[in-house]
Amino acid sequence: MHLAAFALAGPVSGNHGGWRYPSADTNFLSGSYYKKLGRLLEDGKFDLLFLADILAVPSRYEGSTDSQLRYGALGALRLEPLAVLATVAAATERLGLASTISTSYFEPFAVARALATLDHLSDGRAAWNIVTSFQAAEAANFGLEAQLSRDQRYDRADEFVEVACKLWDSWRDGALTLDRETPQFADPSKVAAIDHAGQYFRVKGPLNVSRSPQGRPVFIQAGASGRGRDFAARWAEVIFVTHSSLESAQEFYRDMKQRAAKFGRNPDELKVLPGIVPIVGETRLIAEETERLLNSLVVPEAGLSTLSYHLDIDLSQYPQDDVLPQVDVPGVQGHYKEVAELTHKHGLSLRQLGTRYGVGPLREFVGAADEVVDRLQLWFESGACDGFMIQAPFLPGGLEDFVRLAVPRLQARGLFRTEYTGATLRDHLNLSRPAA
Ligand SMILES: Cc1cc2nc3c(=O)[nH]c(=O)nc-3n(C[C@H](O)[C@H](O)[C@H](O)COP(=O)(O)O)c2cc1C
Repeated sequence: MHLAAFALAGPVSGNHGGWRYPSADTNFLSGSYYKKLGRLLEDGKFDLLFLADILAVPSRYEGSTDSQLRYGALGALRLEPLAVLATVAAATERLGLASTISTSYFEPFAVARALATLDHLSDGRAAWNIVTSFQAAEAANFGLEAQLSRDQRYDRADEFVEVACKLWDSWRDGALTLDRETPQFADPSKVAAIDHAGQYFRVKGPLNVSRSPQGRPVFIQAGASGRGRDFAARWAEVIFVTHSSLESAQEFYRDMKQRAAKFGRNPDELKVLPGIVPIVGETRLIAEETERLLNSLVVPEAGLSTLSYHLDIDLSQYPQDDVLPQVDVPGVQGHYKEVAELTHKHGLSLRQLGTRYGVGPLREFVGAADEVVDRLQLWFESGACDGFMIQAPFLPGGLEDFVRLAVPRLQARGLFRTEYTGATLRDHLNLSRPAA
């Protein structure tokens, strides 16, 4: 089983009330906060720390940033993730480090360079969550009147990743010779321009960073539309997804493994990690009390504000006692699928949905450690996933509980490593190193 930790370099990760929880550390502007998180995850032998990211304070709800800021919602504040991960790299030795970077607002040269740098600095632990972005507010921060359409964003993303791969391969392995005598710093015959000229990018190359320990970072993706799934099947080595039930997780898992095979890939080289919000206690009562307190800290508007930007619809325009209307959703299909299922199953009003969404995905992982580990094992062994993306409801305590109570039980059942056996993130995930 693979374990990743989902976090944001900001106030909350898995639960909108998380920053208000009495023992939550609100020191998220400090490097020490992230170093501590990294060391904790490494003690728990996690595969990787994943930092989500967006490029704007969302303003979809009521056409304003107020609700995000007032309630410390998901998009209220984000430090730049690569800089944060460089700090974590210096405090850890084995933990994988995954940064979200958008293909819609950056340029392949700068991104390939930054990720190759992180891979070198961390001795082979870098990963890239490839996102196409989905908010008009982000386009507006980069001088654009509007976003590209979803299909165009994915077309650009395909070309972006192709260019990045060419740049990472523009230095062959062994090109850096560092021979003092000859003298030969690098072998020019092993470094070449890429001369890329495509629809979205013109890049001469070569990169000014030599090929990194992993060859290229591990690719992560979370697109759930048909186009998003095909993009993931082509490129992703880890897929992060949220589900509202075991059945939808199993359906997604089957579909993604089949799509990967269709793209001529080995399906084992594509790891599917559903996001869950576990609350693990010494007893079920303790976990349920923690959950009750956490849920009471979630303001419905905070959840609706975040759901508004995820769906790219202003949900404040609908009566709050009505159910989510059936509309065409321009935003993230994966999130829409999740809340449409919830609405259908439980008949939640929008206000209730706001609280539910603010609480985070999948509540069935709440209980005494053995109960939670039973659920993890069931999902893992019933064709729903290759592991989990753990979204602790408050930090660092929620992760400390998971590492202290759940990880040893997973290890005792032979489901999870007791020691790292390799050095790089590709080693942890059993992924091959791509040839140049
Ligand atoms: C669980 C999950 C997490 C995501 N995290 C991010 C993120 O951190 N930043 C971002 O810009 N997009 C994020 N996305 C959005 C996707 O990567 C993708 O760009 C978006 O879902 C649009 O594609 P789709 O319509 O194919 O789903 C996330 C999506 C899901 C389902």
